[in-house]
Amino acid sequence: MAAGVEVIGHPLVQHKLTLLRRKTTSTVDFRRLLGELSALMAYEVTRDLPLHEVAIETPVGPMTGHLIDGKKVVFVAILRAGIGILDGMLSVVPGARVGHVGLYRDAQTLRAVEYYFRMPRDMASRDAIVVDPMLATGNSAVAALDRLKETRPRSIRYVCLVGCPEGVANLRKHHPDVPVFAAAIDSGLNDHGYIVPGLGDAGDRYFGTK
Ligand code: URA
Repeated sequence: MAAGVEVIGHPLVQHKLTLLRRKTTSTVDFRRLLGELSALMAYEVTRDLPLHEVAIETPVGPMTGHLIDGKKVVFVAILRAGIGILDGMLSVVPGARVGHVGLYRDAQTLRAVEYYFRMPRDMASRDAIVVDPMLATGNSAVAALDRLKETRPRSIRYVCLVGCPEGVANLRKHHPDVPVFAAAIDSGLNDHGYIVPGLGDAGDRYFGTK
């Protein structure tokens, strides 16, 4: 696998991803599985977040414990499908802040055009975790990271469920400093820009719009 890309091979992740991919999986089950997968992915992607020491009292005595500062974590959802990842991640980091990036592709220029961008204040003291279930061409991911970097977050990580070599190469070329976490890297893209075998349109499957 390319440098800077971590495929989460944990059996629970692989099991749930397989259930999620199946074309017979209902919208209800797709939502539940995406939530469960997102919580598991959050566990992996937050592995190296800084801890600070804190003095506490247990019922038996004093000790020094360790806490992350959950409020310093910002989950950045790339609209629309990234929304499907938020609840699961927030279930394990409930204090996290949430940002949104909305982009569409201009039919003439094929460039990503921003229609929504909202981040918490003081990004310089926050660790951003950008989420989107599918890393296909990588163009939205690159544009979202370009824009996010203008806010100068303390660190940035990128999380998808399913990527492909084209998307990974594009993202790594433009943002080699951003580590990528995925549950799977599939074989490629078809003529319609869908990841093969992928799981179809993640937004449509999550929102039940098809
Ligand atoms: N977006 C999706 O939802 N699925 C793909 O396969 C590619 C992009």
